[in-house]
Amino acid sequence: MDKQIKSMTLRGGKPLNGEIIIRGAKNAISKEMVASLLTSEKCVLENVARVRDIEIMKDMISEMGATVNYNPEAGVVEIDPQNIHPLSMEAVKRFSGISRIPTLTAGPMLARFGETFLPRPGGCSIGQRPIDFHIMALEKMGAVLEHIDEGLKLTCPCGLKGAKIRLDYPSVGATEQVLLAAVLAEGVTELSNAAIEPEIMDLILVLQKMGAYIMVDTDRVITIHGVKTLNGYFHVALPDRTEAASWACAAAATNGRIFVRNARQIDLVTFLNKFRQAGGEFAVKENGIEFWRSDSFKATVLETDVHPGFMTDWQQPFVIMLTQAEGMSIVHETVYEDRFGYTQALNSMGAKIQVYKECLGGKTCRFGQRNNNHSAAIMGPTPLKGATIDIPDLRAGFSYVIAAFIAEGETVLNNIDIINRGYEYFIEKLQGIGADIVSIPE
Ligand code: EPU
Repeated sequence: MDKQIKSMTLRGGKPLNGEIIIRGAKNAISKEMVASLLTSEKCVLENVARVRDIEIMKDMISEMGATVNYNPEAGVVEIDPQNIHPLSMEAVKRFSGISRIPTLTAGPMLARFGETFLPRPGGCSIGQRPIDFHIMALEKMGAVLEHIDEGLKLTCPCGLKGAKIRLDYPSVGATEQVLLAAVLAEGVTELSNAAIEPEIMDLILVLQKMGAYIMVDTDRVITIHGVKTLNGYFHVALPDRTEAASWACAAAATNGRIFVRNARQIDLVTFLNKFRQAGGEFAVKENGIEFWRSDSFKATVLETDVHPGFMTDWQQPFVIMLTQAEGMSIVHETVYEDRFGYTQALNSMGAKIQVYKECLGGKTCRFGQRNNNHSAAIMGPTPLKGATIDIPDLRAGFSYVIAAFIAEGETVLNNIDIINRGYEYFIEKLQGIGADIVSIPE
């Protein structure tokens, strides 16, 4: 990974034009790396993006005794999980609070060792992000839980058993938790109200290649027939649809034109509809999608939701784009209760964004009767001016980068390294599409 950079100065006012190449989705690849713990055979992943979350998983799986060869330039991860063992307490401490993915090692490790430690989950601070659904599901399957300072201790002396599980909300992580636990559990697991995001489908493809039986039925029901052993796999990960949408918004927001090589229409249908509604234009080509904006760039109303709805991770770059659209846009965030904190800094740059506790837009969501600012009204178009901003989380961080290129003058972004968690080579990519990066201090 690149050396850690703390801040960056950007000069705005120029459209971003050119080509961006995207690779595999971090939110699929990291889970597919966890799947390798289910077998003792070699697993190979291709199209792996060079992002920090992959480094974290490489380190963690290596700590568990697997041999991991990672070639970031080629985008290949090879995992030999033959000699894996549970994490040491020292390693549990070290991985505590840095990522959410290690939580997903529960099922594979319980299947193989009957006992495991899970570091306290980390990840972006965009809501409370509990793991109660994960715990409920694992307990239903027979795991016994004990809270320890660094995280959780799970035991399952008699092996995991298939169970009927219903999620209160179609959580991506909890669905992945159940999949990874149920494939080697004894008997049948029926998961209802499951998430069906493309990244989950990609994980299911991997598990199927490994020999798992997984049926995805209508109405968010996933049925898994446990098997005794699983084999290794070769897989080419699906492209990162969040990164694709982020560059699309950068093109429209700066009134430029960006061809996103490897972006797939099938993963972006809902995004493309909203993008078009706001006056964004796109052309689907053989190896990617080109994005720009029409002369009529206008306000829109949208609600984030689980797939196939408008993804919560598209929300922040889309909001920046809407600051440049004519009229009042409404965005209702229904996945996370606290994902508009970043708008305050945008207002200091000249945006007119008002956040509300009420559910604005079409429907009421589970955050409606609580005290969370989870709706936003965005008045546009507003000229932006440069500012100094501390980046709070990954997607907000990339959105500030877009804002900086719309703004007049210079913007200093602190804590810029967070962006490396989810956007590979983002500085080089920006330079390649004409971005004016004034300085990157050592
Ligand atoms: N939730 C619970 N209890 C649980 C699990 C989830 O209440 O046990 C709630 C969460 O608090 C949240 C909602 O359910 O309000 C959805 O959370 P989910 O479990 O679906 O999210 P996640 O698995 O923690 C993944 C991605 C996120 C992405 C969401 C939704 C990874 C590593 N993270 O998180 O990605 O926003 O799904 O699509 O896959 C990002 O990439 O920047 C990012 C935040």
